[in-house]
Amino acid sequence: MTRSASRPTLQPHAPSGLAAEFAAAVRAGLTHAPQKELPSKYLYDEVGSALFEVITVLPEYGVTRAEERLLTRYAAEIVEALPADVVVAELGSGSGRKTRRILEALSRKRPTSPTSYCPIEISRTALQLCRRELADIERISIVGYERDYLAGLAEVSRQRKNGERLCVLFLGSTIGNFARLAATRFLRDIRAMLRPGDTLLLGTDLVKPVPTLIAAYDDAIGATAAFNLNLLARINRELDGDFDLRDFEHVARFNPDARSVEMHLRARRHVSARVGAARLAVELEAGETIWTESSHKYHADEIPAIAADAGFECAHQWVEKEWGFAESLLSAA
Ligand code: AVJ
Repeated sequence: MTRSASRPTLQPHAPSGLAAEFAAAVRAGLTHAPQKELPSKYLYDEVGSALFEVITVLPEYGVTRAEERLLTRYAAEIVEALPADVVVAELGSGSGRKTRRILEALSRKRPTSPTSYCPIEISRTALQLCRRELADIERISIVGYERDYLAGLAEVSRQRKNGERLCVLFLGSTIGNFARLAATRFLRDIRAMLRPGDTLLLGTDLVKPVPTLIAAYDDAIGATAAFNLNLLARINRELDGDFDLRDFEHVARFNPDARSVEMHLRARRHVSARVGAARLAVELEAGETIWTESSHKYHADEIPAIAADAGFECAHQWVEKEWGFAESLLSAA
């Protein structure tokens, strides 16, 4: 067993309220029967965010490049479809590389008026990175919100001036991490904060052959495996856990009913572990898994129907066919 005290530690920089929330989520997830689970949002600490940046440039993971190609090709067309007095809010800004395309196109479309950009992120590191990445764009004002998506969006919406329209960016197929019904519910929650004339630009990864999908989530150099295993390492670091990572292996499997790729951590042998800050003792049988993420895949023509269900109208859709990715512009009906 590896003892957390003997290992070099990273300073957990989360405020204690967030640590308590993480502990409660770990406790609930690892006592969940029959399938143990952990929420995928905890994959993105400093190490996890850095590993995800690596994943986005892997040959097997075509998602990010496909969306970059779309935004490079169609940014002008996309911003042409937006109302003149638009404020851009983004749910999960990540590195800001894709957003640059949109913001630059807006700045070209309106050479005299400044563009407001409000990234909403739970990760302070990501907020700092995206601010640094985008600061050189002309006439931009960046105000970051270190909040959950919906809480952040509520605040952005409350602070907007009369007459300003919101364009919410939800890129990268992050919506895929929600189960299908939860995705529609989430879009409805977003819609409830918007007014007619506001828009949502939604990126979704599309259904493609299963071997392509599995390779994207189980790459040859093991970057995705490291990204997944880091969740246990993070529990060790921040919640005084004693998981031995060598007891676990990364698994990616396709769930045909959900049309999702699931990531799991599978126990190679019987495991007993403790998580101090969650006052938890866990047992796993050999072969038992912890479900850490689902990435749902969509058909392009499902999006208008889901949008309508959530109170949006799908005004435009741009599809990248080489990999299979769709960008949909939804307007608040
Ligand atoms: C950032 C949530 C879109 O689900 O494809 C990448 C995260 N997980 N490889 C995805 C992820 C494993 C990614 N999202």
